Amino acid sequence: MSGHLPVLLDEVIATLQPRNGGIYCDGTFGGGGYAAAVLEAATCTLYAIDRDPAAIARGATLAARFPGRLHLVEGRFGDMLALLGERGVAALDGVVLDLGVSSFQLDEAERGFSFRADGPLDMRMERAGQSAADLVNSLPEGELADLLYTLGEERHSRRIARAILRARAEAPIETTARLADIVRAVTPRDPSGIDRATRSFQALRIAVNDELGEVERGLAAAAQLLAPGGRLVVVAFHSLEDRIVKRFMAEAAGRAPGASRHDPTALTGRAAPAAYRLVTPRPLRPGEAESSKNPRARSGRLRALERLPIRDAA
Ligand SMILES: C[S@@+](CC[C@H](N)C(=O)[O-])C[C@H]1O[C@@H](n2cnc3c(N)ncnc32)[C@H](O)[C@@H]1O
Repeated sequence: MSGHLPVLLDEVIATLQPRNGGIYCDGTFGGGGYAAAVLEAATCTLYAIDRDPAAIARGATLAARFPGRLHLVEGRFGDMLALLGERGVAALDGVVLDLGVSSFQLDEAERGFSFRADGPLDMRMERAGQSAADLVNSLPEGELADLLYTLGEERHSRRIARAILRARAEAPIETTARLADIVRAVTPRDPSGIDRATRSFQALRIAVNDELGEVERGLAAAAQLLAPGGRLVVVAFHSLEDRIVKRFMAEAAGRAPGASRHDPTALTGRAAPAAYRLVTPRPLRPGEAESSKNPRARSGRLRALERLPIRDAA
């Protein structure tokens, strides 16, 4: 196992601006790369959440390096308000979210996230609940096709869903290798060279872990917890997530495209002053040096939002 190379690490720390005495939350602890850098950047306290029990267990070493400053919390960042509330934290000076899976999860064949290694078709970050095999072997053909199309942006979703139904009639699909072979057998080669199973695996992983729902809940909770001057920094790796982050931040900063019918300001003609401002009007992307060292970084996009000091927001 190679460990996890944090993406856009310098940019995350430069944007979060950790300060001495501050209280921060890393909603996606993973291999602890961001967490270690936050704790090194200032004498601050960090609550680090991860829904994967293996990530939390690995974090014990880092917690020992920063006695009393790193608090590991097993759970979902979508439940951040409750998880931190239970620990007496009602406001934060910054939140960071590094979405998706870690290299630890991808590289461990028995977690079933990767089509590159054969393993059980699992994909559950929490190791509990419905697995990818449960979905693949039970969903009706139409629902399966819709899932692959909406969560994987897979153009060949209908063809793949049909092939899955045919294959599972012979025997349940229980391994990553079998699913990848089924997908590859009915799809044309991608000119960009990406594996033809990529989109289907992405779709299943997002569905199994309700990743988009988590992003929506996590952003709302984080924005609510930010103290004036506090920053929310998010790194996303695919367009579905990035679109949610972009829209959420634009709306919070009062830059929503087109007023909603339900927006009370549409009646008064006066916009309520925004309580947040966009720190990154355009997302930060990794440079060529980082992308060539770490191919996973290539699709990373960093966006950040700041809660305005009360006097500016009023
Ligand atoms: C890309 S990795 C984070 C890597 C980390 N920034 C580092 O430097 O090592 C994402 C991590 O977030 C966790 N995760 C994903 N969605 C989550 C959620 N909704 N709640 C909590 N943890 C989540 C995954 O289990 C994984 O460990």
